[in-house]
Amino acid sequence: MNAAIRAVVRTGVYHGLEVIGIRRGFAGLIDGDVEELRATSVSGIINKGGTILRTARCSEFRTKKGQKKAWRKIEKAGLEGLIVIGGDGSFRGAWCLEKAGKTRVVGVPASIDNDLAGTDMSIGFDSAVNTAVQAIDRIRDTAASHERLFIVEVMGRNSGFIALHTGLAGGAEDILIPETETDLEKTCEMLERGRLRGKLSSIIVVAEGDECGGAFRIAEEVRARTGYEVRVTVLGHLQRGGAPTAFDRVLGSRLGSMAVELLVKGKHGKMVGISGSKIVTSTIDRVWKHRKKISMGIYKLALELAT
Ligand code: F6P
Repeated sequence: MNAAIRAVVRTGVYHGLEVIGIRRGFAGLIDGDVEELRATSVSGIINKGGTILRTARCSEFRTKKGQKKAWRKIEKAGLEGLIVIGGDGSFRGAWCLEKAGKTRVVGVPASIDNDLAGTDMSIGFDSAVNTAVQAIDRIRDTAASHERLFIVEVMGRNSGFIALHTGLAGGAEDILIPETETDLEKTCEMLERGRLRGKLSSIIVVAEGDECGGAFRIAEEVRARTGYEVRVTVLGHLQRGGAPTAFDRVLGSRLGSMAVELLVKGKHGKMVGISGSKIVTSTIDRVWKHRKKISMGIYKLALELAT
């Protein structure tokens, strides 16, 4: 997100705009927690995880009263445009402001879950997947040395993008995601076939949103069915921190800058995204009206290559 903030500020300054940073998202907007950001305010942040502006989940903004408070702050600060960097919750809020005509809104997709329609990739996804893959590479050393089965749970809320990409890149033996029906009997049969072929260890990646009820439940069931020595690792918030990948820095820079360019051209009510290597735009409400689908082609490939 910091790469996007840096790009917004520096592109804004390039165009002679005054750029105001709002701390803690909509919570900060309601409280008027703002600061002017100059080109130097965003020096040395492109390599930092998280966001210098900090963030918050704000239930008050979901109420009419909360939104009115935010409107007043927007008017008082004279904000002519608002760039919202975040996931679908942030865009729902952004859409309320846009529809009410209180300011001109442009969205920049940032979510490790990568579940936002209108963009192939959201900022943070690539970094989260790389972190999870590094973790799996390390876990595999123990799995192989101790001849164990590991169940590794990754984030993603209700979607399986992180699990799918981590599982494929980490060479997992199975990948359990909410988008496909999980059948633990089949998983156990697959493990058994692997054992008969001489496989001594395995890794299963499970998305936190999978209907099986989490890595610990899966481990219990697989242990009961197969008698294997099973261990569980829940990667959790590790996936949301650390230096962003070069890909995410480039993506954040491109999308942040384009968001400002749109506002300068008088375009708003849009989210910027990428399709292939091109920057594209879609209306902000599309983001939650259409659920982004995982690629079944990639899913099948991952499982084919795992056997
Ligand atoms: O949406 C991003 C995400 O990291 C999800 O993958 C995860 O389910 C959730 O946020 C965790 O939220 P919190 O940090 O509030 O526990």
